[in-house]
Amino acid sequence: MWYRTCMHKKPVLLSGIKPTGDLHIGNYFGAVRQFVEMAHQEQYDVFIMIADYHALNFIQNKEEMRRLTHELTAGYIASGLDPKKVTLFKQSDVPAHTELTWVFDTITTMPYLERAHAYKDAEAKGKEITAGTFNYPMLMAADILLYDTTVVPVGQDQKQHIEYARDTAEKFNRIFGETFRLPKEYITESVATVPGIDGQKMSKSYGNTIRMFASREEIAERVMAIVTDSSGDVPTNVYAIHKLLKSEAELAPLYEANRGRYKVLKEALIDDLDAYFSSMRARYEKLVTDERKIEAILAHGAKRARAAAERKMSEVRNAIGVR
Ligand code: ADP
Ligand code: TRP
Repeated sequence: MWYRTCMHKKPVLLSGIKPTGDLHIGNYFGAVRQFVEMAHQEQYDVFIMIADYHALNFIQNKEEMRRLTHELTAGYIASGLDPKKVTLFKQSDVPAHTELTWVFDTITTMPYLERAHAYKDAEAKGKEITAGTFNYPMLMAADILLYDTTVVPVGQDQKQHIEYARDTAEKFNRIFGETFRLPKEYITESVATVPGIDGQKMSKSYGNTIRMFASREEIAERVMAIVTDSSGDVPTNVYAIHKLLKSEAELAPLYEANRGRYKVLKEALIDDLDAYFSSMRARYEKLVTDERKIEAILAHGAKRARAAAERKMSEVRNAIGVR
């Protein structure tokens, strides 16, 4: 039974983001806010990762990788994660992640990986697909399963990856005996897919983001660029973003009093975004240039994550008979 071997005292929460660009408010409301809040409740043993080996599929430049890794670390902390209470670590610092990926590769079929959305999208676009992109779900399964994770807070687009992790755990357990706990995604329906300034899913690959740590000027410029429909009284895309910050009851009088006055509504949204993120932005700016501090935080996290992952990896080696 998994619980005989599970070494965590509390249920484990794990999540991660690739260091491939600036955090945006879709990342924040869709995923980061959930795990920051859950970490504060102290019911979970929390592991938060910088998925740099996943990012290597996109970022193939040494300086950029280093900068983006530091920025994401600072971003996590500025969002409210306390590195003394959560294990904040870099994937590449824990070799067990890539080692376990190989083990999973040997029990996973090509047709199964060919069904992954990310792979299918890349293929449909006629892109050249690396083995790393094809294999992405197995590295992510290793990330999750190494820590006996029970809950993985993410946005909607990651749901399939967590199903892959669960299927892989089941398959391994069937072949080699109970070793892995089955994880479950945690998706908050109301913010599962935060829209961008064009109304599509906010994503850095669509150029429609509002950056979490943007200056007031930048926020203003982005909000003014929100696409407004000229039909209804309520500008749908403005309202959709506003709703992330305030309740519908709070917004009702404002939108009622300013029907059709898009500029006024956008100005109110600028004020609210600026107020909501200003203290996080200040924390971020202070930390992001402090390389020594960031490196020390990551070194501390690496040690803790490595210890946990190594224990699991030695169970795996036993189970498959290489020890
Ligand atoms: P991007 O699409 O900008 O590249 P990532 O894929 O790096 O973002 O996503 C990091 C995390 O943020 C994941 O958990 C993902 O599900 C979540 N996320 C990203 N964009 C959104 C969005 N628009 N709405 C909700 N969650 C999102
Ligand atoms: N694939 C995730 C994304 O693109 C990042 C990620 C890597 C992740 N490993 C993870 C998320 C483990 C949750 C758990 O956003």
